[in-house]
Amino acid sequence: MKLAVAVTGASGVQLGIKAIRSLPENVTPFTILSDHAQTVLSHEVDHKYHIEDIAAPISSGSFPIDAMMIAPCSMNTLAKIACGIADNLVTRAAAVTIKERRPLLVAPREMPFSAIALENMLKLSRLGVIIAPPVLGYYSESDTIEEMENFIVGKWFDLLGIDHSLYRRWGIEDL
Ligand SMILES: Cc1cc2nc3c(=O)[nH]c(=O)nc-3n(C[C@H](O)[C@H](O)[C@H](O)COP(=O)(O)O)c2cc1C
Repeated sequence: MKLAVAVTGASGVQLGIKAIRSLPENVTPFTILSDHAQTVLSHEVDHKYHIEDIAAPISSGSFPIDAMMIAPCSMNTLAKIACGIADNLVTRAAAVTIKERRPLLVAPREMPFSAIALENMLKLSRLGVIIAPPVLGYYSESDTIEEMENFIVGKWFDLLGIDHSLYRRWGIEDL
């Protein structure tokens, strides 16, 4: 599986990093980094692109990406995608993913959400985009922040059909 992974904004960058690090071997990430995430990940991720690299392969619908996730997704990027703006590699790749009708998971990170952000999420959801904000789950017996983050990343992977053992499933003793 080829998965485009975009990391935008600032708050919650570590969740995007955790998601990339947690991918199983059969998933190849094609990573798009904001300037902030670029520094952290520059030596650790293959197939990485800068957000201004609009000519990267994943900018074209002819490149066989299977799915895309944007985690975390800033309100800025969310708004652009909802309006069909494709002014950098993240928004262009998202626009391509939508037009090619491939799975797109967006993890908007803000608190609280404005009505503008909520309308943008609803619009994208109605187009089939998976809206999966990084909301903590308290039923998976998580004791630490790391375990709660594993739960969020695991939920993202569930939604994209990626195998993992990041969190304990409700009602299942052994993973
Ligand atoms: C420390 C810091 C934290 C931020 N956290 C958020 C956030 O949680 N959500 C958000 O939508 N924007 C946040 N922003 C603002 C975005 O980074 C800003 O709107 C930027 O233009 C987003 O650009 P991008 O969508 O290309 O990543 C934060 C900015 C800074 C400096």
